[in-house]
Amino acid sequence: MTKNYIELLTDASQKNIDEWLARYPYEKRRSALLPALHVAQDQNGGYLTDNLLQAVADYIDVPKIYAYEAATFYSMFELKPVGRNKVYVCNSVCCMLRGSDDIIEQLKAKLNINLGETTPDGKITLKEVECLAACGGAPAMMVNKTYHENLTSEKIDEILQGLE
Ligand code: FES
Repeated sequence: MTKNYIELLTDASQKNIDEWLARYPYEKRRSALLPALHVAQDQNGGYLTDNLLQAVADYIDVPKIYAYEAATFYSMFELKPVGRNKVYVCNSVCCMLRGSDDIIEQLKAKLNINLGETTPDGKITLKEVECLAACGGAPAMMVNKTYHENLTSEKIDEILQGLE
């Protein structure tokens, strides 16, 4: 019997994805893929599993490879368990020229982890990402879904202290 992966999406997730799907004609339903992946990721503690990729693809009615391509291309998607908070630091050109290397070193030292790792208490995952499209506020980082710009050492300390 073929497994019904769609059942992996909660009712709330399906409703949320339906709202995205309603914005596009059927033949353009692939346009709802990115928000649908976000919905699935959020329901699953911040990361996507192989089965959830299948569930989203089935729900949207696109080949699974589309979901897989998007989830592996965009750095906001995670394919393995993450901490309760995601700290994504931009290290593209504008941010690098404005000191993101120092920001990253400070975060690594404070959290005692390397890029791509999660603190042992499961609180924070630290990751370097490409341009966050906040170049005017470089150096920038995204914590969960909130942008923080013009980062300084003091601001980093404040932001970290505010995380649960
Ligand atoms: S280079 Fe960092 S936000 Fe664009």
